[in-house]
Amino acid sequence: MKETLLEAYNFRHACKLFDHTKKITDEDFNFILETARLSPTSFGMEGVRLTVITNDDLKKELKPFCWNQNQIDSCSHLVVFKTKTKELKPYSEWTKAKFAERGLPQEAQDKYMEVYANFHKSLKSDDIYEWGTRQAYILFSSIITSAALLKIDSCPIEGFEKENLEKVLKINADEEEVSLVCAFGYREHEQPTKHRLPLEEICEYIK
Ligand SMILES: Cc1cc2nc3c(=O)[nH]c(=O)nc-3n(C[C@H](O)[C@H](O)[C@H](O)COP(=O)(O)O)c2cc1C
Repeated sequence: MKETLLEAYNFRHACKLFDHTKKITDEDFNFILETARLSPTSFGMEGVRLTVITNDDLKKELKPFCWNQNQIDSCSHLVVFKTKTKELKPYSEWTKAKFAERGLPQEAQDKYMEVYANFHKSLKSDDIYEWGTRQAYILFSSIITSAALLKIDSCPIEGFEKENLEKVLKINADEEEVSLVCAFGYREHEQPTKHRLPLEEICEYIK
């Protein structure tokens, strides 16, 4: 298992160009999405939504707003991660329902909500979008790894024009906002050599 997982981590790279003739099967992509669904979110709020784009015309339409990167229209599946900003606000119907689903007495739910609200107030930037986006990155990390386990390539895309992307996708920015984009498919070229710092440089022990 360790070997398999390390192999996947070594296989994964930021794929700059996909073979557009190769498409990911529904079965494989559903497996990948399931690992997003099972990923953790802070307070269990599940405020991330994914739009999966396989339509080639739409990919072409989005490309100029993603720095014209070739991954956008050469990939098989383009995933847009969105944060449900409105629903994630403390005391929203959504957050109340999420605390209620734990089956705790009302008093405990109210206490949880208070902690949630105070947590948001205590953040350096009291910005639901920023916080929600962090949760989106957790799902993102899961799915690039599970894709790599299936020998499916990916490329994270932070290079995009958020407002323009939201306009093309007809996203109501009062309710949700784009956090991240990620392209999936099969590589056109061999992957380049990986450059990483040695473990001793990024990790210290306090024993
Ligand atoms: C959040 C995030 C956003 C990124 N955005 C882009 C992007 O817009 N375009 C791109 O070509 N690569 C993008 N990358 C890829 C990184 O440049 C790449 O992961 C890094 O150089 C390490 O290389 P490797 O992934 O091939 O090991 C992004 C990576 C991350 C994690």
